[in-house]
Amino acid sequence: MTSRSGILNIMEHSITPRHVAIIMDGNGRWAKKRLLPRTAGHSVGSEVFRKIAEYLGTIPGVEYLTVYAFSTENWSRPADEVKEIMRLLDHYMDTAMKSLIEKNIRLHFLGDLSVFDDKLRAKMEKLHEMSEHTTGLHVNVAVNYGGRDEITNAIRSMAKEGMDLTAVTQEDITSHLYTAGQPDPDLLIRPGGEKRLSNFLLWQLSYAEFYFTDVLWPDFSEKEIDEAIVWFAGRKRRYGNVK
Ligand code: FPP
Repeated sequence: MTSRSGILNIMEHSITPRHVAIIMDGNGRWAKKRLLPRTAGHSVGSEVFRKIAEYLGTIPGVEYLTVYAFSTENWSRPADEVKEIMRLLDHYMDTAMKSLIEKNIRLHFLGDLSVFDDKLRAKMEKLHEMSEHTTGLHVNVAVNYGGRDEITNAIRSMAKEGMDLTAVTQEDITSHLYTAGQPDPDLLIRPGGEKRLSNFLLWQLSYAEFYFTDVLWPDFSEKEIDEAIVWFAGRKRRYGNVK
């Protein structure tokens, strides 16, 4: 896939988001509108994830993508839906994830991975190792991820390391999150019409710009990414200051 000249022209003159985060929402409604099972929406949604990751990898200046694939709260969904999302993830480990690596993408899995069975966890670790030598876009796939859970785990880790918790700094917390060593997201994109964070990257999104669109995730394309990036380029980020 090649970058579209329009977005490249714009990017030459303005600010590109270094880290883009996406809540891939609307799969269920997309399927329902077509009288299909919700799982059909997740299936198309996972293809769209691959397409969008590849596309972002071609945009100069974009270095990180974090997608919300499965939250700590999603386990309460109907058992067959949870099973299908796990199956899709597993399938993706074997197919599309490898093709992403061929496209020079670096894969990371964020979240409490201890709940997954050994086989699935081993695949995640292997894919991470396999992609360590690549030099392109970092793609974080958040699975069994919750922002509150992540911050709680960071505090537990610091306590286990024997750190003095009365003297903890923001940098200490940042370096104990799943995203340790990575820059915070600059742009959060939420398709699907809802305007909420849903426990995603609570710490890291402090100064991100939020872009909401009614387009459902399975209908998402390169065009919507271009629109979000152009919108981002027009934002004035003040980080609490006045200028
Ligand atoms: C939100 O839509 C989507 C999810 C909870 C799951 C997202 C999972 C995938 C796209 C597939 C697996 C991912 C990868 C990376 C292979 P929703 O079900 O809440 O939609 P709704 O709001 O319309 O009900």
